[in-house]
Amino acid sequence: MRQVLKALGAKSLRKGPLDCYKCPECEGLSEDDVVLVSDAGLRCFHCEGEFPRNAFKHAKKEATFALCAGCSKEFPLTPASEGFVGYLCTCDNYVAIPFEDQLFQPQEIMSLKWNEGLRERGIRLTEQCSAVKCATDRDWQVLVLMQVTAKESNPEFKFGHQDENEALLVFDPVTGVYVGYLLWYERNKKYATLNQLFVMPEERRKGYAEAMVKHWVADHAKQIGEQFALESPNKYAVALHIKLGHIRKEGDTLVGINGCCFTSGF
Ligand SMILES: CC(C)(COP(=O)(O)OP(=O)(O)OC[C@H]1O[C@@H](n2cnc3c(N)ncnc32)[C@H](O)[C@@H]1OP(=O)(O)O)[C@@H](O)C(=O)NCCC(=O)NCCS
Ligand SMILES: [Zn+2]
Ligand SMILES: [Zn+2]
Repeated sequence: MRQVLKALGAKSLRKGPLDCYKCPECEGLSEDDVVLVSDAGLRCFHCEGEFPRNAFKHAKKEATFALCAGCSKEFPLTPASEGFVGYLCTCDNYVAIPFEDQLFQPQEIMSLKWNEGLRERGIRLTEQCSAVKCATDRDWQVLVLMQVTAKESNPEFKFGHQDENEALLVFDPVTGVYVGYLLWYERNKKYATLNQLFVMPEERRKGYAEAMVKHWVADHAKQIGEQFALESPNKYAVALHIKLGHIRKEGDTLVGINGCCFTSGF
């Protein structure tokens, strides 16, 4: 079965003692679920040394436990439960997101006020939406969290990374909700390639994608070069780019026009 990630958060978080093994060599504490069984006995999570099981002393460590909002199971937040975006339950729900030594609920991060100054940085695209080019760690944190929702319908979407991608976050400044994002890359700074476009399911068919793409072409892609590329657009994206005059249908084939061309990814 394919993995469907969710970001429902936790019903509650609590602190409590967690059983650990204490390493005879480095005295580091390894949680039950990260200590590995090895040929010698157990392997310490910290120094990676292997020692007989009875050389490890039992110890307790203060840990945070989350009650999953997806399946109501409680589990400790340990390195073993860390996924790409945050702490992940076995039901594939993110229960908490670590950011700058604190834990946040996905809903907190998805509220505009979590990202102070974002509204002010926004460039107004239409009456209903503003765009910000991802620049801060908070911007990128919001982006990857929206990607969890995007991956529910397009599991082949890869998580964006600030070293490889550029991204636009788009939000409604009136209702204060994030409506979507656009991800692209600029290989060799010769031309820009659009590789992900996403609008939150409840916000679709209101013209957001159209506003995002128009802004991206004029203020980002065309600033690099006359040409820009679309990476493997699906049928909805094709319909959108036909409407915007980037693609023309010639019989059964699609032809890029007005500087637009296609790539199949990498
Ligand atoms: C594709 C997607 C980004 C469109 O976002 P959107 O904000 O709903 O699009 P817009 O309202 O701006 O639509 C603009 C035009 O795109 C086309 N379009 C958008 N969604 C469409 C759909 N479901 N079916 C057919 N055409 C569609 C239409 O031509 C539309 O113009 P119209 O409303 O005047 O007919 C959105 O459906 C989405 O995020 N889907 C999941 C992710 C995805 O498939 N991304 C594209 C591949 S990378
Ligand atoms: Zn050790
Ligand atoms: Zn769960």
